[in-house]
Amino acid sequence: MSICLNDKIFEALSSVFTEEKVRGYVIGGWVRDCILGRNHPEKDIDIVVIGSGIEIAHKAALKINPGINVSVFKNFGTAMFRHHEYEIEFVGARKESYDRGSRKPVVENGTLEDDLRRRDFTINTLAISLNQDTYGDFLDPFNGMNDLKKKILRTPLDPDKTFSDDPLRMMRAIRFSTQLNFTIEEKTFASIAENAERIKIVSPERIITELNKIMMCEQPSKGFLLIEKTGLLKIIFPELDNMKGIDTIEGKAHKDNFLHSLKVLDNICRKTDNLWLRWAALLHDIAKPATKKYIPETGWSFHGHEFLGSKMIPDIFRKLKLPLNEKMKYVQKLVDLHLRPIVLSQEVVTDSAVRRLLFEAGDDVDDLMMLCEADITSKNEAKKTRHLENFRIVRNKLREIEEKDAMRNFQPPVDGSEIISAFGINPGREVGIIKNAIREAIIEGIIPNEHEAARKLMLEKGKEIGLTPVEPAI
Ligand code: CTP
Repeated sequence: MSICLNDKIFEALSSVFTEEKVRGYVIGGWVRDCILGRNHPEKDIDIVVIGSGIEIAHKAALKINPGINVSVFKNFGTAMFRHHEYEIEFVGARKESYDRGSRKPVVENGTLEDDLRRRDFTINTLAISLNQDTYGDFLDPFNGMNDLKKKILRTPLDPDKTFSDDPLRMMRAIRFSTQLNFTIEEKTFASIAENAERIKIVSPERIITELNKIMMCEQPSKGFLLIEKTGLLKIIFPELDNMKGIDTIEGKAHKDNFLHSLKVLDNICRKTDNLWLRWAALLHDIAKPATKKYIPETGWSFHGHEFLGSKMIPDIFRKLKLPLNEKMKYVQKLVDLHLRPIVLSQEVVTDSAVRRLLFEAGDDVDDLMMLCEADITSKNEAKKTRHLENFRIVRNKLREIEEKDAMRNFQPPVDGSEIISAFGINPGREVGIIKNAIREAIIEGIIPNEHEAARKLMLEKGKEIGLTPVEPAI
């Protein structure tokens, strides 16, 4: 098993444990991922010390590189330092339980087994000895190896106890299941469903970390389906939960928008690792429940769902503790624009419609096209091919117009300061009116995206609103 201790760092740690006559073990994710063959260089290394984790961290730092800064978290009895690409965390073995409700841990020193017992899943309870006499020996008191082989997630204790100690573990179970393609063992799964309400005591910041890890999986739908099935979804993400189900009126049914959104998400995950584009895919139809209407003549309508959806994003981001910055604006923009390429593909495409989309989407136009293509979830292959072909035509048209008119990062050929000095006015409403008129004329193809034509229009528009150009000084 010492294959997991190949790195030099473990020899250095081993000599510290041997010198200090303290027992130490590598545990958790490092061991698990090493056995699964998925360790990456930035992986954290978790070390359990039968004694003081903080003291050993200082001793180890001194041995490895006396200049290293050791961060100590006294309340948790842990200490860590970085060495090269590693983040090494030391903790004293604990026997611990939490005060129900308060989440305040009651901690006592314990044995290795005590420490492993209070961890989340058996696959995270494998330990490898770092002491010279037993170096590389493998300890597996909860049969984690067997569960790793069988691809099963199971808690070392009664799941109710493990989840009650830290309800975030319910999300972690689903995250590991999605990430590793493991099955959550029946009793463990039932306990999540039973304890779902307890997720409410967990901070949204911790929940979103797990949700984002699910979003970054190959097939995030697996995770979302489990989150739904366990009853967690309606608590942590009611807007998404609200999308479930199909209504039928007069024999006409609409699609299940929850399942459709998950398909779009999976589709886009095959094309991009951009987390925010993935979020846009998940949220593109989020306002469908709120805009849903049955119109007897035409059937189901979700009129304006793209606009309302983009308006819902800030609130969702705020509640989920996603960033309220340009990432959010990017998601809003894609949600807002997600029907536009479809419209372009259906109608006779005018250059002005294409220019307007280029202007509004800017550099995100390629991501928008990717979202639109992912949005094709029809099972009818002929229909799918037809839609994709239409989007190919839209892409060509976008390229053609962009080459001609450079609309992507539109910079007005006449800017505000030129307008101000041309008419000798102060910044204000008039400047905005003229700027808008120029932009609209360019988008509509009335004038080319060039300075001379724009200046001419500026003078005309200025006259129209009662401005007189300043005589050029002689
Ligand atoms: N752990 C736990 N309960 C939690 C979080 C962590 O029992 N809520 C334990 C697990 O034994 C886990 C170890 O602490 O293996 C380290 O936690 P962490 O670094 O968060 O997870 P990893 O297992 O290393 O996995 P990943 O890096 O994929 O998050």
